[in-house]
Amino acid sequence: MSEMMLEEAVCLLDASQKAALRKGLGRSTPRKRANEVVASLTGIADFFTSDVDWQEFREAIAADTPELMQESAQEYGDFQTPLSLARAVCQKLFDEGYRPKVLVEPTCGKGNFIIAALETFPTIRKVFGLEIQEGYVAECKARLQATLLSRPELKRQVEIQRGNIFAGALTTTALNTDEGEILILGNPPWVTNTVLSALESTNLPAKSNFKKHAGLDAITGKSNFDIAEFILLQLVRGFTRSHASIAMLCKNTVIRNLVAGTKEQALPISNLRAFAFDAGKEFGVAADASLFVADITNELGAKTCSMSNLSENKPPRVFGWAGKHFVADVARYKKAREIEGVCSVVWRQGVKHDCSEVMELTKESSHWRNGAGEVVNVEHDRIFPLAKSSDLKEHVVTTLRRAMIVTQDAIGEDTTWLKQANPRLWKYLSAHADALDARRSVIYNDKPPFSIFGVGDYSFKPYKVAMSGFYKSSHFSLLPPADGKPVMLDDTCYLLGFDSLGQAAVALGLLNSQPVQDFLKSIVFPDAKRPYTKDVLMRIDLRKVASLVSPTSIRNYLSQLEGAELGFEEADFEFLVSPELLEEQTMFLMERRPAYHAGRRR
Ligand SMILES: C[S@@+](CC[C@H](N)C(=O)[O-])C[C@H]1O[C@@H](n2cnc3c(N)ncnc32)[C@H](O)[C@@H]1O
Repeated sequence: MSEMMLEEAVCLLDASQKAALRKGLGRSTPRKRANEVVASLTGIADFFTSDVDWQEFREAIAADTPELMQESAQEYGDFQTPLSLARAVCQKLFDEGYRPKVLVEPTCGKGNFIIAALETFPTIRKVFGLEIQEGYVAECKARLQATLLSRPELKRQVEIQRGNIFAGALTTTALNTDEGEILILGNPPWVTNTVLSALESTNLPAKSNFKKHAGLDAITGKSNFDIAEFILLQLVRGFTRSHASIAMLCKNTVIRNLVAGTKEQALPISNLRAFAFDAGKEFGVAADASLFVADITNELGAKTCSMSNLSENKPPRVFGWAGKHFVADVARYKKAREIEGVCSVVWRQGVKHDCSEVMELTKESSHWRNGAGEVVNVEHDRIFPLAKSSDLKEHVVTTLRRAMIVTQDAIGEDTTWLKQANPRLWKYLSAHADALDARRSVIYNDKPPFSIFGVGDYSFKPYKVAMSGFYKSSHFSLLPPADGKPVMLDDTCYLLGFDSLGQAAVALGLLNSQPVQDFLKSIVFPDAKRPYTKDVLMRIDLRKVASLVSPTSIRNYLSQLEGAELGFEEADFEFLVSPELLEEQTMFLMERRPAYHAGRRR
C-alpha cells in the first residue's frame, strides 16, 4: 500500500470505526492475525500485504486527534452556531421589539452570537460572555478583536471570561449590572446527563433536585435530562429581579419540559415563544429545535408557549397547559376535548422480547429465517404472524412477512412444558439461551426461561385494532387473523383485541373518525420520541366518540377501505359497555390514579 493509499484508508474511517479496529487490533498483533480480524469484520481478505503497511496503519488509527476532539465536543454539547443563524435570530429578536442594553452570552463558544448581537442592537452598552473551553475563549476574543478593529462603530465594553456556568457565575448580582434591559442570548450545550455519565464527565450541575419536584430524581442520575434545561432554569432564577429576557436555541423537548414545568415550579417567566429552525441543516442534528424566547418577570408567569417558524411568518399555534392537561395545540384542544375521558377498553402495548435475532422470523418460500440469518425449523404452534410499526401503514393490514415466537400465554407463565410439547422449538431456544439470557432489562430476571412481556388474553384475540407509538401519523389499522392465527404486535405498537370482526370494524371507524383525529392532533406532540403512548390512547373516551359519530358515517368510511369487506351489527357497539372491559378499565384507573391526575403524559 502506498503512503497515500494508507492515508486515504485511514481518513475514510470515522472515530467509532477506528475505535472498533483498535479494539480488535493490538499494536503487537501479528500481521496474519490483523488480516484475520479485518476479514472477520469486513470480509476483505489480505488487507495488509506487508508488515510495514500493517504497522503504519496501526499507528495511524492510534493517533486520533479528531476523535479526542469529538469526545470533548460531545462532553461540552458543542455545536457552534453559524453566524448566519445567529444573525437571523438577532433580527427576529429585533423584530420582536428587543433593544437590550446588556448582552449576556452564557456559553459563548467562538462568539458568533456576540458578533451578530453587536451588529443588530446599537443599544448594547456592555457584553458579558462565559465559556468553559480555553481554546474558544481565545478564539472568541481574537474574532471580536478582528471584528471591532475593522468595524469600530461596533465597539462596546466587552468582557469574555473562562468559566463554568454551573459554578453560578451568571446572576444579576455577580454581573453587578443595573444598566437596564438585559438580553441573555445563546445556545447552551446539547447533551444529556446520560451521555455525560457514559463519558464519565463532570460537566454537570452539582447534585440537587433542580426541578424542585418531589420524587423526580431529576439529577440523581435516575432520570435523563438535558443540560440545557438546567441552564435555562438556572438563568431564569439568577435574573429574576432584573429586566431580563432570555433567547436560547434548544431542542423542542427542552422547551416542552420547561413549559410543562411552569405548572409545578411556578417559574417567573412570561411571553413564551418558540421559533422553529432546521437543526439538521444548521447543526447536522436529528432533532426538532427552536429559538426559545421568554421575558423574565417578578411574578409567576405564563403556562403556555406560542410556536411558529424562525424564517416564515405563519400564525403560531399555542401549546402548554389547558386546565389540568398539557396539550400540543390549546385552541384545537378546546374544540376537540369533548371526547376526553377514560377509554372503556384498555389499550395494550405489543409483545416485548428484546431479542429480535432469535424471536422474530421472516418467511421464505418453504421455511422461516431468524434475525441472525439462520434457517429455523421448529413446530408451528407457538409461531404467530407479527406486525411492527412499519406494517401499520394501511387502515386494513392483510400482508405480513414476519412472525414471532410467543413462548407464553401470560406474563410469568411456566415455559418448561414446551420441552415436551414443542421439542424442536425448545431445542432452538436452548441453543440461543445465551442471547436470551443476555437481555439487559431487569424484567427478565428470575423469570421462566425464554420469557416475554406484553402478553395476555388480549394478544390471542383474533381481531386487532392497532397504532404505532413511534410514527407521527395518528391513524389506526385493523389486523384480521393471518394464516388462521391472531396477529401479534411488537412493543412499538398499541392495540385493542376483539372477538369479532364487527366489533373491530366499529372500533376502527370510531378511532379514525374526525373527533378522535382532531383530539389526538390537539394533545400529541408529533416530534416526541414516542408520540402515542398508552396514557394518550386511554384519554379517548370511545363511548363519547360513539355519541358523536353516527353508524352511517362509520359504514361510509368502512366502505372505502381496501383489503377486507367490513361491516357491523348494532350489537357490535355493545363492547363499549361490556362489564368485563369496564372491570379492566377500573383496574387501569386504580393502578394509574396518581400519574393520571398529575397531567404530565408525554
Ligand atoms: C452548543 S455550543 C454553543 C456555543 C455558542 N453559544 C454558539 O451559539 O455558537 C455550547 C457551548 O457551551 C460551552 N460549554 C459547555 N459546558 C459549559 C459549561 N459548564 N460552562 C460554560 N460553557 C460551557 C461549550 O464549550 C460550547 O462552546
